[in-house]
Amino acid sequence: MIQRNEIRELGETGEECILAQGKTKEFEKTQRMEKPGKNTSQDKRQDAAHDLDFYGEEIELLDFVSLKAREIIEQDCKITSACAARPYPLVMDSAKGSIIRDVDGREYLDLVAGVAVMNAGYSNPEVKTSISAQLEKVIHCGYGDFFAEPPVKLAKKLEELSGYSKVFYCNSGTEAVEAAIKLAFWKTKRQGLISFYNGFHGRTLGSLSLTCSKARQKEHFPAIRTAHSHYAYCYRCPYKFEYPSCGIECAKELENLIFRRELSPKDTAAVFVEPVQGEGGYIVPPPEFHREVRRICTDNEVLLVADEVQTGCFRTGPFLAMENFGVRAEISCLAKALGGGLPMGAILADRELMDWPPGVHSNTFGGNLLASVASLASLEFLEKKNTKTRVKEIGSYIRQCLGELQENFPCIGDVRGLGLMIGVEITKPNKSIDPAKRDKILKEAFKERILLLPCGDSVIRFSPPLVITDEEIDLGLEKFQKALKKASI
Ligand SMILES: Cc1ncc(COP(=O)(O)O)c(C=O)c1O
Repeated sequence: MIQRNEIRELGETGEECILAQGKTKEFEKTQRMEKPGKNTSQDKRQDAAHDLDFYGEEIELLDFVSLKAREIIEQDCKITSACAARPYPLVMDSAKGSIIRDVDGREYLDLVAGVAVMNAGYSNPEVKTSISAQLEKVIHCGYGDFFAEPPVKLAKKLEELSGYSKVFYCNSGTEAVEAAIKLAFWKTKRQGLISFYNGFHGRTLGSLSLTCSKARQKEHFPAIRTAHSHYAYCYRCPYKFEYPSCGIECAKELENLIFRRELSPKDTAAVFVEPVQGEGGYIVPPPEFHREVRRICTDNEVLLVADEVQTGCFRTGPFLAMENFGVRAEISCLAKALGGGLPMGAILADRELMDWPPGVHSNTFGGNLLASVASLASLEFLEKKNTKTRVKEIGSYIRQCLGELQENFPCIGDVRGLGLMIGVEITKPNKSIDPAKRDKILKEAFKERILLLPCGDSVIRFSPPLVITDEEIDLGLEKFQKALKKASI
């Protein structure tokens, strides 16, 4: 059971959320308040009301949603594990395009696309039609053992979009990263890995070894041998250098420090890198960073794996974000938006690299037929809509507008991004992080009915559906400005 002092600690660092606190209290409360024989619906309702008063002491935003929403949250807190963090009490009912409707019928503008998943928009008609058609035929085929056409058609589309000649399917980001780790180990017969500080690659044990975002995510869990190196976080340069005179010292650390002192290239199977760091703070490195990492991998005969779980599927403009940097990794990992809203992950590599024989790796649901048709429809839709250009254009527009807000809101320390992956770093006047202020802004934004999420120590992320309209963008920015004003009072 989580202890109270731990809860306080979480709040202070801004890492965990108000609901996690509510859940913990709920757990304590169920232990304390179990009363046998109280079963009528009126009793239950009274209990719920009492419980909600109890939450209300800690969770101010629960006042903002209806009793119905609070009851669902209450039941959720009772029955599901408290280990996931939710930043505000949104209880979703339906959605279309970039608009989400909650169980109270209130509409919200989703500026995070269900955490970078709904690139083609909610209820996309083309995705829905293909899912319905497949639903009539068959949902599941056990693609690890049998054959079917939808995953093959999707693989051809992925080859066309990425240039990689082989695909392996799985169901999530962490599974894609696990598959990439195993392929790298299998291919090189080495068992060491390198990744970057602030990086996030998932939460299963292999991917978690690479993740280096928040110590809490790794507490008490064992790891695969992994060395971590500095990423090009220019706003807070680990070397206190200035770009471009720095000479991308952070990338050179792989050769100058890691390979010399910690992990020999002869023991290193692969370097894992996010083209733009996501969970770690929407950090966009200068182009030379990835080119230098690529050169070092090539010179030292180490594989480069691009974790495109968040950046892929046109999120930054091109299909793969590494294209922005002119870099090609040996393996690319995809998930999130790949399934058009259904669980789907994949790794891509060339035929010569992904030449592991039958039986080495597989799973039950990878290549699921509904997910495959949804994925294909979503990718074809985005391709047809000329998403690459549109994402670049609206991404620059949003960054420019957010940059203009800096004048009136000095708490905006930095605005950065690539395509529709945009981060606003909230700081104190001395440029130090201000997670409390960041969380206040997020809550005010929720009250304004725009959905945003935290990342990094003190960053607000914008990753809207790629189909967001011009009007919705302007509305979202107007509401964000209101939230900044209210949080500044
Ligand atoms: C870059 C990156 N890799 C891996 C993952 C893990 O994906 P999943 O949550 O689907 O396991 C995430 C999730 O946020 C991610 O952003």
